[in-house]
Amino acid sequence: MCGIVGYIGDGNVYDVLVKGLHRLEYRGYDSAGIALVAPDGRLNLYKAKGKVSNLEDYCRDKDLRAKAGIAHTRWATHGEPSDSNAHPHFSQDGRIALVHNGTIENYKLLKDALKQHGCTFHSETDTEVLVQLIEYIKINNDCSLLDAVREALKQVVGAYAIAVIERDHPDTIIAARKSSPLVIGIGDKETFLASDATPIVEYTKNVVYLKDGEVAVIKRDEPLKLVDLENKDCDIDIRTLEMSISQLEKGGYPHFMLKEIFEQPNTLRDCIRGRVVDDGKRILINGILDNKEKFLNAKRIVIVACGTSWHAGLLGKYLLQDMTRIPVEVEYASEFRYSNPVLDDRDIVIAISQSGETADTLAAVEIARKQGAFVYGVSNVVGSSIPRETDSGTYIHVGPEIGVASTKAFTGQVMVLTMLAAAIGQLRGTLAPEQVAELGKYIIRIPDLVTKVLGLAPQIEHLSLIYTYARNFLYLGRGYSYPVALEGALKLKEISYIHAEGYPAAEMKHGPIAIIDAEMPSVIIAPNDHLYEKIVNNVQQVKSREGSIIAIVTEGDKEIRELADHVLEVPAVPECLTPIITSIPLQLLSYYIAINKRKNVDMPRNLAKSVTVE
Ligand code: M6R
Repeated sequence: MCGIVGYIGDGNVYDVLVKGLHRLEYRGYDSAGIALVAPDGRLNLYKAKGKVSNLEDYCRDKDLRAKAGIAHTRWATHGEPSDSNAHPHFSQDGRIALVHNGTIENYKLLKDALKQHGCTFHSETDTEVLVQLIEYIKINNDCSLLDAVREALKQVVGAYAIAVIERDHPDTIIAARKSSPLVIGIGDKETFLASDATPIVEYTKNVVYLKDGEVAVIKRDEPLKLVDLENKDCDIDIRTLEMSISQLEKGGYPHFMLKEIFEQPNTLRDCIRGRVVDDGKRILINGILDNKEKFLNAKRIVIVACGTSWHAGLLGKYLLQDMTRIPVEVEYASEFRYSNPVLDDRDIVIAISQSGETADTLAAVEIARKQGAFVYGVSNVVGSSIPRETDSGTYIHVGPEIGVASTKAFTGQVMVLTMLAAAIGQLRGTLAPEQVAELGKYIIRIPDLVTKVLGLAPQIEHLSLIYTYARNFLYLGRGYSYPVALEGALKLKEISYIHAEGYPAAEMKHGPIAIIDAEMPSVIIAPNDHLYEKIVNNVQQVKSREGSIIAIVTEGDKEIRELADHVLEVPAVPECLTPIITSIPLQLLSYYIAINKRKNVDMPRNLAKSVTVE
């Protein structure tokens, strides 16, 4: 939630910051703002409600000369989206500006105290408290900006990634983090900071991922310095970014979402590479090989995640139980953290998160570790918080996912969970070598089969025209297709704003069947698996209530073809791999319906890619 950028150097400060904001816009787009220290010593502040492009329009006739600057794109939590609530926020005397990603939980307390000292507030945000507090400490203690920031942060309860700039010291930016991400890019006589590496990668590959409790002192012409809140020096660990700039561009596609859907053959290839070896006969997952005892002795697996990652987690349950015979529970991280969970050192907690920054999932990780469970992360963003806070883990390696609606990350997560399940099954002997080899053979073929499924795009585009104005949708599936139904419904909801519900197909007769009529399309995921005959019954039940049916079936299907209004045929794969194949037509269906409705698929209303607040 919210993206922050900062820059000091001889480049065009405004351009670097605005380009950076565009890259971070997936984190929030309620308002944007920028603070620039001009060569004449003024601190210019420009803000605009809405997207970064609004800020650019607003800035057209403004003084954009600058030696350094900080900028922000907001996802509103405290206070409505408005110019006054937009960051950066200013101190009373206008000399200090600050941008923030996170939540200051004790802001009311601090605000009341500052008001008693004569502070006037100009916004409803929690953030403004921080800049006023920094100024108050600085004036009353006659100290440096660094010392004031450190002291202020000691008083703060909550999560923050901040960047602070001061009119009187235009060659310095102070930045700090706790529970919200912050990356510093070290270039040649220039330094960048941002909520993730995407605004930095085109300038430098050398980055430092700030750790919780660290404060960065970024100065023109001086090496980066890191201290803790007590002003003790911290080590600087410079890493090399593996990201490339082409991964951050649309590459000829009209939207990131469509690009990411079509990238899936390649992203799945990257995800599998080096993990399925000897022509599929062996599955090698380092996180499992390095922790064999944990997986051999595990008595239970608990999966925690949110949103689409939770749907992948639900599939993880089916996969892990089938292949390892270890009991698996799947929890929404946001519920798990407050459910007084009971865990011990024979429990394995798997935290799934594309961004690696989701606040609820991160909190679940902390709780699980405190209780002694072995915590395993499945993440996409390298260097993000969840991979850092977990005992071990596996990256899905699908490259940056920019579209707010998750697509390639979902199939990457499911693929990693499939390989994890097979690797644990291999280790515990619950999967015979021939079973591993049979599965491995198909896993290797998945990228090509996904290419084939993507060939359905024109048919799905056409189909989408028939259903664009439906007001409700039901998505039904059984077994491995049930989480796919949930995911299909979520995709449609989040980008087209059509109400959609995912349901286990057999549960329909216990209630939802009452809402089926000629106005209610049902999307039924019905590959040829061991529940096929059962779902044929469910299709008949919908049909006899005049509901129209779009069915995802296996090539050559006959029975459902007779009943459904439209069928989309996908290639045959083993049952446990069907979710990767069947989820792709659903991604395309929601994309085309949203496009027909002229919705902004990459930045749907009210959403942000990375939910770093509770
Ligand atoms: O980064 P995470 O995987 O932890 O994010 C979890 C959810 O916020 C995310 O999957 C969300 O549901 C997506 N918008 C779904 O498309």
